[in-house]
Amino acid sequence: MGTGLLSSAFPRREGVLWAGGVPLSRIHEEYGTPLYVYDAAVVRQRYDRLVDAFAGVELMLAYSVKANGNLALLDLLRRLDSGADIVSGGELFRVRAAGFDPERVVFAGVGKSEEELAEAIRWGIHGFHVESQAELETIDRLATRLGKRTPIGLRVNPDILSPTPHAYTRTGHAQAKFGIPAGDVVELYRWAASREHLWCRGIDVHIGSQIVSPDPHVQALDQVLEIVERLRAEGITLEYVDLGGGFGVRYADQSETMPVEALARRIVPSVSAAGLRLVLEPGRFLVGEAGVLLTRVLLVKHSGEKTFVVTDAGMTELIRPSHYGGEHEIEPVRENGAARRVVDVVGPICETGDFLARDRELALPVAGDVLAVRTAGAYGFVMSSNYNARLRPAEVVVDGERVELVRERERMVDLIRGERIPEWG
Ligand code: LLP
Repeated sequence: MGTGLLSSAFPRREGVLWAGGVPLSRIHEEYGTPLYVYDAAVVRQRYDRLVDAFAGVELMLAYSVKANGNLALLDLLRRLDSGADIVSGGELFRVRAAGFDPERVVFAGVGKSEEELAEAIRWGIHGFHVESQAELETIDRLATRLGKRTPIGLRVNPDILSPTPHAYTRTGHAQAKFGIPAGDVVELYRWAASREHLWCRGIDVHIGSQIVSPDPHVQALDQVLEIVERLRAEGITLEYVDLGGGFGVRYADQSETMPVEALARRIVPSVSAAGLRLVLEPGRFLVGEAGVLLTRVLLVKHSGEKTFVVTDAGMTELIRPSHYGGEHEIEPVRENGAARRVVDVVGPICETGDFLARDRELALPVAGDVLAVRTAGAYGFVMSSNYNARLRPAEVVVDGERVELVRERERMVDLIRGERIPEWG
């Protein structure tokens, strides 16, 4: 299993792409475009692959909700026994709505508000991943006021420059806003251990996103385990280490996923030798390749040397190409037999930065054709916006032969919900 997975996500049969047992053409005919389609079977395979890989240690997978917070996917993952990694009161609301057990929820983020912290303390989550001394003091004050012993883990900044495709997704180097410098961590644990309402339960590190080599994770773990040993020598015994997420998946320019089995072989022995439970926070690895964005070609425009394929989705539906230089594979849902041309696939938004792909070779589509943008299940819909007063797309989940609409396409009335025209002067 596992490595054969790539061939099973949205395969082409007799010229048409399929999701599970359903041709994507049937889905976009029914639900229109732009449309996000997720294949539940791919999420399950990815989940099982991680569980199998890390079988040698007590593991909690805390799905990183930021990658895709749709309730249907949250429900699917919860049923697989996933926990959740959240970063806001809004994500807390989502995982609660999806029925997650608070004891399987961890909360990270550099700027948690007092309201968000108090809400999560009351709910009784598995652990707060604390990113500053100021936050630790606030949690202590709130926990004392609420009379609740509150589990914490400090997020270590290991000063590792992780090999991610874009600088914006590196989080483990000293200049990043994330985490607490490794040299300051022990002192803060000492203080936390002296506080009646703080429970030093774990330790956390997350070095970046879309990483395909185990090495930086192993380096980060080594640093963290050294801290764990120092704390143990002082009588502060932690239960778990959270190694974060960031496991890379396949994009057009990235043919390999993180070899999670190899990663597991390198980290499981030391985590179990340290007597710790392991928490991982995969987002993209679970849902990235499980999703495609379907978009219809509005027109093809020849401008001097350039050919623009103008689609009904752009940066408002999928911002990754323009914001991170993300290279998503794009292919026609139905093969049209046309000659391949180098084109820019662009959206209708009034920005030159609005594109899905530039200088990409593609069988030249015609108006009305539908294209599938691959690996759009993570950081796709969640980063969509209403810029240019665009309606956010619908989302559909396929499970074998079943197709379910799991989020309606926005309507015009959604665009002005909550707005007021004042009584002028
Ligand atoms: N844990 C923490 C603390 C994180 O900050 C993140 C991602 C994850 C887990 C999950 O990372 P994943 O397994 O999904 O790589 N919007 C960017 C990615 C930003 C990631 C932010 N943090 C993109 O589209 O590439």
